[in-house]
Amino acid sequence: ETTRLWGGRFSGGPAEALARLSVSVHFDWRLAPYDLAGSRAHARVLNRAGLLTADELHLMLKALDELEKDCADGAFTPTIDDEDVHTALERGLLERLGALGGKLRAGRSRNDQVATDLRLYLRDHARGVAQGLTDLATALHEQAETHKAVPAPGMTHLQHAQPILFSHQLLAHVQSLLRDLDRLVDWDKRAAVSPLGAGALAGSSLPLDPEAVAKELGFTRNAENSIDAVSDRDFAAEFLFIAALIGVHLSRLGEEVVLWTSQEFGWVTLDDAYATGSSIMPQKKNSDIAELSRGKSGRLIGNLTGLLATLKALPLAYDRDLQEDKEPVFDAVETLGLLLPALTGMIATMQVHTDVLEKSTPTGFALATDVAEWLVRKGVAFRDAHEIVGAMVAKAAQRNDELDDLTDDDLAQVSPHLDPSVREVLSVEGALRARTTPGSTGPEAVAVQLTNAKTAIAGF
Ligand code: ARG
Repeated sequence: ETTRLWGGRFSGGPAEALARLSVSVHFDWRLAPYDLAGSRAHARVLNRAGLLTADELHLMLKALDELEKDCADGAFTPTIDDEDVHTALERGLLERLGALGGKLRAGRSRNDQVATDLRLYLRDHARGVAQGLTDLATALHEQAETHKAVPAPGMTHLQHAQPILFSHQLLAHVQSLLRDLDRLVDWDKRAAVSPLGAGALAGSSLPLDPEAVAKELGFTRNAENSIDAVSDRDFAAEFLFIAALIGVHLSRLGEEVVLWTSQEFGWVTLDDAYATGSSIMPQKKNSDIAELSRGKSGRLIGNLTGLLATLKALPLAYDRDLQEDKEPVFDAVETLGLLLPALTGMIATMQVHTDVLEKSTPTGFALATDVAEWLVRKGVAFRDAHEIVGAMVAKAAQRNDELDDLTDDDLAQVSPHLDPSVREVLSVEGALRARTTPGSTGPEAVAVQLTNAKTAIAGF
């Protein structure tokens, strides 16, 4: 006796090679709870349509509950002969209910079922991704709060550029995570459309109620077009784009941590619980979490481009190609589910070396722009100020000195505009204090940012 959902017109079973190619139950079994939720809603609709008696509905719902419990505790498992999750669950229902189980398939196709299941799965799991992002943003925010007054070298081209607050750098990463959270909220509005009722592609001649089913499953509405309902995978592609962009953000944070923990930077030491060792070099302490967040971004980008390639030029409505939508989606969810907690723990427990940061901040002539702007405030054209400070840098560099090692005479020699009061901006503290524009790295602007970021994180 076959469990296949088709076979009436076929003279024998499928070839072994076909069965092996076509089976998806080993990965789509993750959809079982969502498929069962859809089945409950569908059973109620069949009852209201007069196609299931009250007694039959009662038995059907009881069997579905039992099946759900058996799936959860492993008493019911799919076999390799079950083509997919829908096949396996129909077998489970028939085993518990006998012939009555065969009534549930009326008005429904695996095409609208699978599209519904994947939307339900993804809307559910996107909430977990959002929680992971919120936790990481919180860890970064707490480190920023703790180190809000610590200066650091701000970099462009990975060269010392201008002094910043270390908190400002950490909060920059929080901003990208907040945009990702916003993207997920926005994505959900478009994902919250129910395909159930579309059948294979054309709707149904049975008096179903797709609107009620949509509501019961937590969707905001049912699909406007039954062909689109079974063909559309925008929700999956868009989610994979968000996941890929999250991956890119995590990779940029990861790369910075790799740099910060290097011997050459020495800004940060990772907690032992979030670092790894070497099998040969006893002294090694490596930042594998940060490296994996760099590395796994490639895989998240691959999931997106893979699905887009699958969808490209695919004729409407359903084609079996669409079965390829699920593995990239599951992989993206599971990859982020591993990455985010590890990164969060690593950031939350990392030790920041304030002394190293303080010492390193003014080096590399990082205060040159501040001197130029000081000259501008004295009425010197910026073009001229730039030249003057350039000459100052050249003089100091020649002697292997920093700008504040230059004597009053040295300064006067470079330009008469450089009187000794320039020393007020030749300090990191002065330079930071002078940054008063909104969004800047000045202490007041950063304090505002800390407050706003905290509110924003709490809002998700
Ligand atoms: N397992 C398929 C999928 O994941 C759903 C089944 C649709 N199959 C079909 N022959 N119409 O997309």
